[in-house]
Amino acid sequence: MCSVIGYVGKNMSRPFVMEGLSRLEYRGYDSAGFACLSPQDNQMLYAKAIGRLENLTEQFNQHPIDGFLGIGHTRWSTHGVPSAENAHPQFDCQKTISIVHNGIIENHHELREQLQDVGHVFHSQTDTETIAHLFESLLISHNTFKSAVIDLVNHLDGAYAFLALAQQRSDTMVVVRRRSPLCIGIGDAEMFVASDVLAFADKTNKVIFLPDESFALVKKDIIELYDFTGKPLVPQVQEVQVNWHNSQKQGFEHYMLKEIYEQKNAIYSTVKFLQALDETIFDHLGLSLEELKNVERIHLLGCGTSWHAGLIAKFFFEQICLIPTTVHLASEFRYNHFFAEPNALYILISQSGETADTLEALRLINSMNAKTIALTNVASSTMVREAEGFLLTQAGHEIAVASTKAFSTQVAALYWFAHFMAYAKHIINHQQLIAAQDDLLIAAELLENSIENYKTVIAQELAPRYACSKKAIFLGRHVSYPIAQEAALKLKEISYIFAQTYPAGELKHGPLALIDNETPVFLFSHIDPLIYQKLVANAQEVKARGGHIILFAFEGQRELIALADTVFLFPKIKPLLGPLAMTGVIQFFVYHIAKELDRPIDKPRNLAKSVTVE
Ligand code: F6R
Repeated sequence: MCSVIGYVGKNMSRPFVMEGLSRLEYRGYDSAGFACLSPQDNQMLYAKAIGRLENLTEQFNQHPIDGFLGIGHTRWSTHGVPSAENAHPQFDCQKTISIVHNGIIENHHELREQLQDVGHVFHSQTDTETIAHLFESLLISHNTFKSAVIDLVNHLDGAYAFLALAQQRSDTMVVVRRRSPLCIGIGDAEMFVASDVLAFADKTNKVIFLPDESFALVKKDIIELYDFTGKPLVPQVQEVQVNWHNSQKQGFEHYMLKEIYEQKNAIYSTVKFLQALDETIFDHLGLSLEELKNVERIHLLGCGTSWHAGLIAKFFFEQICLIPTTVHLASEFRYNHFFAEPNALYILISQSGETADTLEALRLINSMNAKTIALTNVASSTMVREAEGFLLTQAGHEIAVASTKAFSTQVAALYWFAHFMAYAKHIINHQQLIAAQDDLLIAAELLENSIENYKTVIAQELAPRYACSKKAIFLGRHVSYPIAQEAALKLKEISYIFAQTYPAGELKHGPLALIDNETPVFLFSHIDPLIYQKLVANAQEVKARGGHIILFAFEGQRELIALADTVFLFPKIKPLLGPLAMTGVIQFFVYHIAKELDRPIDKPRNLAKSVTVE
């Protein structure tokens, strides 16, 4: 998503704004921009560039603009193609106001028409520009700056977080939040504003997360916070520990590679963290033991990779807790009929805790008075605040757009939680709960060891060979089907190779027609003997049509191994943890395929992390 950054204070703003933008560039990289008020004559100074942030930085060599009040933006395009005109900041007619914005103004067409009718001239296709022109006209018609801002926010529909600079108030930044994340870091005679605390992690740990539907007038040493009616709010200052150093590449070529290697520790930390919660877990979950025992139905919701974690976890809740479980795509959920069920528990899975589709699904479920838990990696996220309860993974900051350690820790946390529920319901005893924790640690160990086993052959032999493929087919069954889906998604997003996933049993119902010797078939095995036998039959169907199989299997699965062209072998483990053990090698393999193709692995085209628009 886009990121917005602002600074007001005793120092020049550009160094902080540019550093903050580079830290959050993973949220969008179609264009970048900066604006500030000149300390000399209060003129609006600005620079914009298409593409990466470095293109903007180059412009400062010739025009080193700066000021005590500055705002910046990196863009993930929603309205209008990536171009200099559509890059933020956007301006009013006289360039007395500048706006940077993350989100969507849903009624911008209507507002644009009204503003054009009274003479405003637009220069971009963005919804953001309407904010600037509207603010311009409201500043004329209102007696006070504050009342103009109140009127402005009440005209705007949609989900948005934006920052505004206005010549009229050269010591104040306007900071507005409706359904998109925004926070203010409090420094010593300086304030940092950003879409994510990571932007100012080493500057201050005193943070105000703006409440939903609120705005702030921020000066270097004072924050006035209001709701959208103009009622003053007391800012809640939180102490947040975010370590920027841990969020750097630390010698790895890409964040994705670093994050792949961090998984073992991330799973360890997640399991140990959950284990140590002890009785306090009920405060986190927002549920009593009795309520947990009474859960009769589980719904898991998420998008993309988080949805895949849910698809895997369905087998955990059904097999371990014996609770019927349904998995929903959060982006579809709101458009389906909602069936109220007694004793249903909804678990919203989201690395960022900010994904708009998942957040809107959460709001709908909350409005139906059903029990909600957010499973997320970000303790300060909107989902943690809005769900009745939460469970936190301990993956650490994930920067690469393609999710790796967030996924494996989600799977681990859900496996742990399924056992915890089974224990609460007296389905398993305490020893079995402890054994499940140990199994997770073993899976984490295998995840890392398998990368070590295969890293040379992947990098030197297999990735160069398979990077030539134009398309690929992914097959699995039962719990190995969602890991096939996740593997295909990873390949698509970072290598741009087309990939299609099927439950292996569906092959003969149509997709078998796609099999040829040029399209590798990635097949993910299962430890269960019955499912394994079915997979052998599916592999034979592929081989009989001249197909080429890349197999992820377990030691001893000889019939399957004999049918494969390339084999990755994993030690036998608890059947439901097979996908977790395979995860590292899958990610490492697709990472190297993308590297062979010279793709921008951490920032794939058209994508951005933390999708805060629907
Ligand atoms: C893929 C990926 C995305 C996210 C999805 C949901 O590698 O990262 O599919 O999983 O956008 O994001 P969160 O988990 O933040 O809600």
